[in-house]
Amino acid sequence: MIKLVNLSKNFGSKEAVSNLNLEIKDGEIFGLLGENGAGKTTTLRMLATMLKPTSGNAIINGYDSVKNDEKVRENIGILFGGETGLYDRLTARENIEYFANLYDMEKSKIKKTIENIVKIFNMSDYIDKRTSIFSKGMKQKTAFARATIHNPSILLLDEPTSGLDITAAKQVHDFIKSYKHENRTIIFSSHSMDEIEKLCDRIAIIHKGKTIEIGTLDEIKKKYNNNNLSDIFSDLISKGGNDYEY
Ligand SMILES: Nc1ncnc2c1ncn2[C@@H]1O[C@H](COP(=O)(O)OP(=O)(O)OP(=O)(O)O)[C@@H](O)[C@H]1O
Ligand SMILES: [Mg+2]
Repeated sequence: MIKLVNLSKNFGSKEAVSNLNLEIKDGEIFGLLGENGAGKTTTLRMLATMLKPTSGNAIINGYDSVKNDEKVRENIGILFGGETGLYDRLTARENIEYFANLYDMEKSKIKKTIENIVKIFNMSDYIDKRTSIFSKGMKQKTAFARATIHNPSILLLDEPTSGLDITAAKQVHDFIKSYKHENRTIIFSSHSMDEIEKLCDRIAIIHKGKTIEIGTLDEIKKKYNNNNLSDIFSDLISKGGNDYEY
C-alpha cells in the first residue's frame, strides 16, 4: 500500500506539491492527471526517494521514503520519461542484466525474465545491439524492461508512453495491465485521457499541487453527470478546483 500523508514540496517560494493525502491500495492501477506543472512528477519523485519532501510523508509498503529509503527502493520500479539513464555503450540486454545484478538475481531467472520482456515488447531485433543507436521508443522499452526486472511490487511511471508510436504505446498498456496481476500496484502520470480511461482503476486530478478530485472513473463521471473525462477535467481546472475533502 502507498500512503501520502500531508505530502508537500516547495522549491524556494514555489509550492509544487501541497498537502497531498492519498491512499493507493495493493493491486490498483492509479492515474495522476493534471496540467503541465501541476506537481505530478514532483510527487512521483518523492515516492521514488529521488526528492525529499519539505513536509509530510510518503509511505511505501510501510516504509518511509526518507527514513527507510533503501527499503523503499527495493519495493519499487521507476521509469521517468525522457531520463532513461541507459548506458550507451552497452547493449539493451547488458543494460538490463547490469541492473538485475544489483538486485542479486539468479542468472537463470534474469535470462527467463528478459526472454519474456523481449517477447512482450517485440525487442528481438535489437536486444543485443548497443543502445546508442536506439530510437526513443526502443530506449523506452529497454528502460521499461530494466525498471521491472526485479519484479517490484510497485511501479512508478512518469508519462510512460510519451513519444511512443501507437504500437509501442499499446505494448506498454498491455504490459501495465499484465503487471497488475499478483496484486502489484502501478502509479502513473499521463496527459492521455484515452490511456487513463483504458488502464486506471482510480485517478487523482491534481491542480497546482493539490488534489481536486479522487475516485474511480465511474464515480467521477456519475458525480459530474458527464461521460467525457476531458470535459470534466477542463471544467474542474477552469474553476480552479476545490480542495478535495479527504
Ligand atoms: N527542481 C525544481 N526546481 C524548481 N522548481 C521545480 C523543480 N521541479 C519542479 N518544479 C516546479 O514545480 C512545479 C511542479 O512541477 P512538476 O514537474 O511536478 O509538474 P508536472 O505535473 O509533472 O508537469 P508536466 O505535466 O509538465 O510534466 C512546477 O511549477 C515546476 O516549475
Ligand atoms: Mg511531469
